[in-house]
Amino acid sequence: MKPTNRKHGPMTTAIHGGETPDPTTGASAPPIHMSSTFVSEDVAGFSAHDLEDGGDGFIYSRWGNPTVSLLEQKIAALQGAEDCLCLASGMAAATAIFLTFLSAGDHVVVSDVSYAGVAELARETLPRLGIEVTLVDMSDLDAVNAAIRPTTRLVHTETPVNPIMRLTDLKAVSALVHAAGALHSCDATFASPLGMDAAGLGVDLVMHSITKYIGGHGDAVGGAVAGRADLIAAMRKEAAIHHGGVLSPFNAWLIARGAATLPLRMRAHQDGAAAVARWLETHPAVTRVMYPGLPSHPQHDLAARQMTNFSGMMSFQVGSAENGRAFARRMIDRLEVIHYAVSLGHHRSLIFWMETAPLMETSFRLEGKQLKSYEDYAGEGIFRLSVGLEDAEDLIADLEAALD
Ligand SMILES: Cc1ncc(COP(=O)(O)O)c(C=O)c1O
Repeated sequence: MKPTNRKHGPMTTAIHGGETPDPTTGASAPPIHMSSTFVSEDVAGFSAHDLEDGGDGFIYSRWGNPTVSLLEQKIAALQGAEDCLCLASGMAAATAIFLTFLSAGDHVVVSDVSYAGVAELARETLPRLGIEVTLVDMSDLDAVNAAIRPTTRLVHTETPVNPIMRLTDLKAVSALVHAAGALHSCDATFASPLGMDAAGLGVDLVMHSITKYIGGHGDAVGGAVAGRADLIAAMRKEAAIHHGGVLSPFNAWLIARGAATLPLRMRAHQDGAAAVARWLETHPAVTRVMYPGLPSHPQHDLAARQMTNFSGMMSFQVGSAENGRAFARRMIDRLEVIHYAVSLGHHRSLIFWMETAPLMETSFRLEGKQLKSYEDYAGEGIFRLSVGLEDAEDLIADLEAALD
């Protein structure tokens, strides 16, 4: 599926999107504009409301900065969206969506499993602000439909979902959300902009932790939301100018430099992950592997229909939680290539043990049918593995030594 406004192929877009040779020096590589303020040629207003008049040119780096703007245009082009806003972290991007489009008395439907920070924000912060939250298994379309109310303003999905790799049918959810006149936001961090044409599947606001695949090198934290220009303008005013969690130009430059090779990296992540996932499936200590690219994934048909790249993200189980903890200890002691660390989407492979029971207490608090669906995907716990760009044989040898 071709994203709606991507003019060139993905490699050309990743390299040239948002970039022009520097007009003053002719530099082919973009400079970093480490300037907090910009000399003005007009007698202009100094309020977020002035953005409504078009707001071209740069005023102050909390409004916009040329290096951050370059990254925003690159991500918008890669995502096939009209515009993009970059912020200081993926969490700042999620918060920006919720606090721009929701007010006290509004209702939001949020995936019952999501990145833990988003899960805690939805369960703790939003209700404190008078926003009503319903948590739903987004793979259950009847449950999504039943959760939507006349006051629902937003439905927030995440696919593949961190950490259990369950998928959401974005086209089907978008149809339900739009029939109710609400907005659909989706955290597409695990897929990257190239793993799924989320905008083409009807998602109004596509969110990424750009700390992950888009930056790709584990050296900068950032977040992005791509979507329709009017929605992004509203977020810039609220979240960037008023809440102030803007991305630094230096981080934007690092992330844009990483983003230039995103299509190449995503292909390599997918190839490496497929090899590792197939090997894990044959290992006697491994009881289950969840990788959307494997035919054994319970939603492989949806993955094949919806995803254009299965990325490097997977989870696997080793039986009981006790086994998991023991193997985690061995990984910390024995792994030579893979880092035992949180985060994902970097060129370095990363692995982390995520046990179901403690996560239920801290982040997800699921019961009944929703807990059962979580356990169907994650058992008593999973290793979340982000396959990097190292040689697959080396990753397999490393895992073999730890699982021995
Ligand atoms: C799916 C997903 N969304 C959001 C975030 C938060 O991003 P950040 O750490 O950049 O704030 C993460 C972080 O791991 C994530 O995995």
